[in-house]
Amino acid sequence: MTLSTAPRARVAQADPLRQDYRDLLATLSQGSVHKNFDPYLDIDWDSANFAIDRDDPRWLLSAETDPLGGTSWYQGLPLDRQIEIGRRRGANSIKVGSAFESILIRLMMQYAMTLPNGSPEFRYCLHEMTEECNHIQMFQELVNRIGDDVPGMRRHFRILSPLVGVLGGYFPLLGFIGILGGEEPIDHYQKSLIRAGADMPPAVRRVMQIHIAEEARHISFAGEFLRTHMGRMGRGKRSVYAVLFPLTMRWLAGEIMTPSKSFAAELGIPPEVRREAFWRSRTSQALLAGYFGDMRALAEDLGLMNPVSRRVWRLAGIDGPATRYRSEPERSAPPAA
Ligand SMILES: [Fe+2]
Ligand SMILES: [Fe+2]
Repeated sequence: MTLSTAPRARVAQADPLRQDYRDLLATLSQGSVHKNFDPYLDIDWDSANFAIDRDDPRWLLSAETDPLGGTSWYQGLPLDRQIEIGRRRGANSIKVGSAFESILIRLMMQYAMTLPNGSPEFRYCLHEMTEECNHIQMFQELVNRIGDDVPGMRRHFRILSPLVGVLGGYFPLLGFIGILGGEEPIDHYQKSLIRAGADMPPAVRRVMQIHIAEEARHISFAGEFLRTHMGRMGRGKRSVYAVLFPLTMRWLAGEIMTPSKSFAAELGIPPEVRREAFWRSRTSQALLAGYFGDMRALAEDLGLMNPVSRRVWRLAGIDGPATRYRSEPERSAPPAA
């Protein structure tokens, strides 16, 4: 007789879990215990250095890393409008990030509570959820201090998000693909800003540094989770996931990186500029495809690249070379618009 009344997730527990996977989970769990951040201990919000200046020119959107910042429309605006749009878009992206984290927590909690006693995945998932709670708090504190009442996720996605989380918990393979579909674009975007030496308000930089440090664990867990649980999957099922993988990536990148029509209108972005930036121009298409170099490498690794799925990657506009190692910077600069 089983003590658990929670429905079992539809994932075959590779039983016993591979030893190298168990070792990785132990390492990640130890990492979570010994290297973690608290939004109120590790960020001195009230220090003069982290004070928010709403007119700070460091809110400007980067022409190289932000699809809207690269448009000639944005470049031609007066400086005060560029700053205002940059600040509000920045605040909204942070709010979107926190909403995504909430979906991830729902999904992972749903999954973790189906696991048997002694599961090393259970322990690590709980560590990760704790970290994501801290991220939500950190992001919300930053949004509050920036002072713009931004909506975050697009409305339909905000309404659907509790369901997306719970469904992902019942279908964890797809759920973890979705986790990567959300974490990767955010992580890639943040890293590209830090790498480019972008001049940004110190509070934003601190939040990003903390987030990047902890996401490294989360992303490697999600990848290993898929490697482990897809390990014994047959060809038929694998070919379904091969197609779902790029579709999920593209869907979530759109939900996360694209401002809603109503928010774009609030910011005074003309509809044709919104369409150009998200994602019709060559520059923005190159940025979008660039988010997924690591995911193309993972898909190769998982045996999810075949002639049909490659076509789906291409049609979704997110094909390109796979990275040779995790977070490898893109090998070529995006083409000019
Ligand atoms: Fe996070
Ligand atoms: Fe995360």
